[in-house]
Amino acid sequence: MGFTIAIDGPAASGKGTISRQLAEFYGYAHLDTGLLYRAVGKKMLDGVEPIEAAHSLRAEDLDGDALRTPAVAQAASKVAVIPEVRQALLDFQRAFARRSGGAVLDGRDIGTVICPDADVKLFVTASPEVRAGRRHAELVERGMDVDYDTVLSDVRERDARDMGRADAPLRPAEDALQIDTSEMTIEDAVSAARAAIDAKR
Ligand code: CDP
Ligand code: CDP
Repeated sequence: MGFTIAIDGPAASGKGTISRQLAEFYGYAHLDTGLLYRAVGKKMLDGVEPIEAAHSLRAEDLDGDALRTPAVAQAASKVAVIPEVRQALLDFQRAFARRSGGAVLDGRDIGTVICPDADVKLFVTASPEVRAGRRHAELVERGMDVDYDTVLSDVRERDARDMGRADAPLRPAEDALQIDTSEMTIEDAVSAARAAIDAKR
């Protein structure tokens, strides 16, 4: 079994960017598990029953800008509350984590539920205002007409739903290293993560 890195945190904390850079640096495979929930959320918006959607997910459902919208993000956090949806996505994530060449997975429950035995666990945070600012900038960059206050209330609503659900709520694993990126550059956050990883490899 290869080295496994589990990275969790709330929306726009920087976990995806950090995960991609770590995967590239160490030559590991990367899975953005949020895409699985976004794909199920998108199918729900298209009229498919969420549990059925989770069971019939295919690779081609996982890419495309259609998953990167605020409406799909909200739908993702709604389907993520359903235990049968989470269960349907479990085996794929665990198999990915066990890849022999090493793997980085990022999401909400990687260190707590998907990979409780991960070699390194990180919990990436930032204040809601900083995260909303980052997500707002990204959406504007992609040509979407959204205002900061709407993005902030979306982020807060999703945080509350993700932390408040009974099954696999968003919370740091006891053995996770917490990295608050509110006032950190991506480079600094990646350096902090690399120091923790290099100490375990
Ligand atoms: O994956 P997650 O939703 O946690 O966040 P992300 O997609 O990695 O980051 C959201 C945005 O914040 C991206 O545009 C990053 O470039 C930016 N970011 C930043 O400005 N400073 C950081 N320390 C981390 C991320
Ligand atoms: O990129 P961002 O952090 O905004 O969201 P995401 O990682 O794409 O996740 C979208 C939604 O999927 C989250 O708000 C969670 O409700 C759900 N999710 C989850 O429940 N468990 C995961 N491992 C990943 C995402």
